[in-house]
Amino acid sequence: MSKTLIRGAKVLGGEVQDVLIDGETIAQVGTGLEAGDATVVEAGGKILLPGLVDLHTHLREPGREDSETVLTGTRAAACGGYTAVFAMANTFPVADTAGVVEQVWRLGQESGYCDVQPIGAVTVGLEGKQLAELGAMHDSAAGVKVFSDDGKCVDDAVIMRRALEYVKAFGGVVAQHAQEPRLTEGAQMNEGVVSAELGLGGWPAVAEESIIARDVLLAEHVGSRVHICHLSTAGSVEIVRWAKSRGIDVTAEVTPHHLLLTDELVRSYNPVYKVNPPLRTEKDVMALREALADGTIDIVATDHAPHPHEDKDCEWAAAAMGMVGLETALSVVQQTMVETGLLDWAGVAERMSYAPAVIGRLEGHGRPVSAGEPANLTLVDAAYRGQVDPAGFASRSRNTPYQGRELPGRVTHTFLRGRATVVDGKLA
Ligand code: DOR
Ligand code: ZN
Ligand code: ZN
Repeated sequence: MSKTLIRGAKVLGGEVQDVLIDGETIAQVGTGLEAGDATVVEAGGKILLPGLVDLHTHLREPGREDSETVLTGTRAAACGGYTAVFAMANTFPVADTAGVVEQVWRLGQESGYCDVQPIGAVTVGLEGKQLAELGAMHDSAAGVKVFSDDGKCVDDAVIMRRALEYVKAFGGVVAQHAQEPRLTEGAQMNEGVVSAELGLGGWPAVAEESIIARDVLLAEHVGSRVHICHLSTAGSVEIVRWAKSRGIDVTAEVTPHHLLLTDELVRSYNPVYKVNPPLRTEKDVMALREALADGTIDIVATDHAPHPHEDKDCEWAAAAMGMVGLETALSVVQQTMVETGLLDWAGVAERMSYAPAVIGRLEGHGRPVSAGEPANLTLVDAAYRGQVDPAGFASRSRNTPYQGRELPGRVTHTFLRGRATVVDGKLA
């Protein structure tokens, strides 16, 4: 059994402590711990966090291995400080059967860089017509508890109601990609001043907000749990705040890019900024930050959406939607939430590790940094400043909106059950 001593880390940004890892477990947290035969990592005051958990990752396997595989995606996750990711179901074939979710689960087990928890589709083929075999996916080796048609909205209210009722039986959750399809036909970017000036099809805030309003009411009506993916508007925040105040069992996520970027960037016509839901306005960005700080929004989730360059290096209208995010998420959160004083590192641990594990009912992750817990840890050099260079990404795709941008912070070490997956900022 190998031992590692992380010496002199600010645990959750607080007191400087040593953390001794023995095998897969945290053996001791304290000061002046003896290294003995342990490998020593000199933390030098870096921030030690619980391993991050991403509730919303697109790993693309099976079917789009040209953009990402479970192996490359979990490597990217490890580099970003993650020890577990939930893999979205919009693969080819769609993860709508026990067979496909078990395949993804098994690939994750083999990767060794990061745990992979498959998400099951809500409807067959993401078509929104017929419920997928939710029970069989839950009962499979993959033990699916989160279901989503992400990429598409479950827009039929009756199907959504049935899905909510069904998952209630085993404590599951439906994660909704809130996008009213009729209101977003031909939509290319946020509907507003910029879309009017550029003459691009607008994507109104109400397309997101109307679905969220409907779904929190449905969740209340059937007494089930609903999770809202990637909130992007100030109005969505208001609806979730209202729902929570009523005691509705709703949780919500925001992506790093919606915490930082606005639709002004679309003036460049660079498709690297094309994403679903679209980048919104400064007012929306500020509302999202505030909501993440006050707990209205529970978690940060990346919506890591790798695309090959031929799907992004093209005219705006033809480009695919989505951006990679696993390797820059923590830096963007540091810049937008920590350095603005909205959140401390304990708050980051809550929103990027503890809470996503709870929402996804994932055991062994999102645990406190204390003796007896699984040694899933990430060490962050918060003083680091550097420009984002996609050439250095572990992801197979390069579609980042941050190329050349200076972002703070760098993950130097990641440990998955005591084993280093990242050492000195490089894959182990
Ligand atoms: O931008 C996005 N890309 N949003 C989604 O909902 C799906 C994702 C993808 O799969 O590329
Ligand atoms: Zn989505
Ligand atoms: Zn997504």
